[in-house]
Amino acid sequence: MKILVTGGSGFIGSHVVDVLLTSGHEVLIYDLEEPRYKQNCGFVKANVNDLDKLTSTSKNFDFIYHMAAEANVNRFYQNPLHSNYNTANSTLSVLECARKNNISRVMLSSTEWIYGSIEGDENQSITEETPYAQNPDHLYTSSKISAELFCKNYKTLYDVNFTIMRYGIPFGERARPETVTPIFISRILKNEEITIHGDGSQTRQFVYVRDLAEGNAACLKPEAENQIFNINGREKISVLQIVKTLEEIIGKKAKIKFIEDRRGNYKGRFISSEKAEKLLGWKPKYSYREAMERYVKNFINWNS
Ligand SMILES: NC(=O)c1ccc[n+]([C@@H]2O[C@H](COP(=O)([O-])OP(=O)(O)OC[C@H]3O[C@@H](n4cnc5c(N)ncnc54)[C@H](O)[C@@H]3O)[C@@H](O)[C@H]2O)c1
Repeated sequence: MKILVTGGSGFIGSHVVDVLLTSGHEVLIYDLEEPRYKQNCGFVKANVNDLDKLTSTSKNFDFIYHMAAEANVNRFYQNPLHSNYNTANSTLSVLECARKNNISRVMLSSTEWIYGSIEGDENQSITEETPYAQNPDHLYTSSKISAELFCKNYKTLYDVNFTIMRYGIPFGERARPETVTPIFISRILKNEEITIHGDGSQTRQFVYVRDLAEGNAACLKPEAENQIFNINGREKISVLQIVKTLEEIIGKKAKIKFIEDRRGNYKGRFISSEKAEKLLGWKPKYSYREAMERYVKNFINWNS
């Protein structure tokens, strides 16, 4: 199939492109940034919001993965107009282009953030049926909820098909250096201090980026049409567990400094990806520990 990937030069997008190419698809990356990795696919350097360019480029394509967005929530906070333009507005542009070109389906990268701070009964899992955050406390959340709603509107009003993929917290090769896992790895390697808010018992659900990319590809199946899927890891990992796992893999003790807890540093409810397993046969291939072993090994190779 012919697949266009907006944001295909980015962290997650580059892995999705790898998996799509391995599966034999013809892939075109559409991004503002040049691809950083050698991949046997086409590339167009352009803005998703340039509807004419996007429409002429995607003629005769079957699927569009819309992964381009402002994914860094701090940058979103600093520059809300521009970030929303690249996140919610860009989704409208992709949907309009899909309508004009009769694209079979738009595959939207979304996030677990749309559930909000997910407080409440910790024993109850979050599923795709769990409602959107009623009072989103971040612009990124509101922008991603808008993007999802635009997909639903385009289905109802213009019969444009979609699949929404809600990712957990990705980690692994090619991650931005300012995210928690690469920071911890590099500080332990350099004997530098790690700062932990609160007592480190707060948990998050991480998903290994290679598993996440496979999950994205699984969503091409017809069963995923006009459906929403959580694509997440299966373990809740506390901050202290991240450090302990890294200490064991690297073989070095971390220097930890505990500081005051962040406001609203919730413990985290479990997000279930059971629907993706049942309907698409996708589940993470690697345990957290196995994924981390692979990542640390590659991290050390690339940084030495
Ligand atoms: N990284 C995470 O923690 C995370 C978690 C959940 C969901 N997501 C979502 O997954 C997707 C990919 O995230 P990522 O971490 O790979 O981000 P990234 O920043 O690494 O990649 C995003 C890419 O989109 C491109 N881009 C942005 N605006 C564009 C525009 N208007 N036109 C063309 N290209 C544009 C950028 O140049 C970049 O290459 C995003 O939609 C993000 O919101 C990310």
